[in-house]
Amino acid sequence: MKLGVLISGRGSNLQALLAAKKEERLPLADFRLAVSNKPDAPGLDIARSFGLRTAVIDGSKYRGRRAEHDRAIDQVLREHECEAIVLAGYMRVLGAEFIAGWRNRIINIHPSLLPSFPGLHAQRQALEYGVRTSGCTVHFVDEGTDTGPIILQRTVPVLPGDTEDSLAARILVEEHHAIVEAVALLSQGRVNIEGRSVRVSSGGRVG
Ligand code: GAR
Repeated sequence: MKLGVLISGRGSNLQALLAAKKEERLPLADFRLAVSNKPDAPGLDIARSFGLRTAVIDGSKYRGRRAEHDRAIDQVLREHECEAIVLAGYMRVLGAEFIAGWRNRIINIHPSLLPSFPGLHAQRQALEYGVRTSGCTVHFVDEGTDTGPIILQRTVPVLPGDTEDSLAARILVEEHHAIVEAVALLSQGRVNIEGRSVRVSSGGRVG
């Protein structure tokens, strides 16, 4: 499966994917390119260090023209023959037209147990709410904010004295497992959407 990865910043989830690919844990995932909406995203250097092509579609040049920005991203993904998209720390909202054009072919990783704490600052929201367990979710992207069908989730405890940073770091470790496992399942064609639910068909061990 030919994949494009969208990033906005640090790129540690992208790194987890590319390292898994290098270690032959994602044999059916063909990463075609990484696209960033920020020209200075450190994740771009990570992509390059793995020999992955990169593209920058600078969001600041498209202020107030989201649909045009989306179309530029769509074009570069199609030029690289992508069949599905992984949002790996992509912090910009994609428009309805873009999502419709990639229906059930975009997955996102989010640092909370959805449907709790969608949107920005998920870890801070979890701490402020006082939950005892948090984690991460990989889900399909629909037109809502972090509302699409859930592929998998991993949990972590929230510990006494946790700060936003300490909780985020604990969740991030699980994110890196979750995103690799989800891409493995997706690329193996084992992820089936049935209404709001995702059924994972059986197969060998992954991730
Ligand atoms: C990750 O924690 C990811 O879950 C989060 O941004 C971080 C990106 O880190 N994404 C969102 O909050 C999306 N709503 P990374 O650039 O090191 O992969």
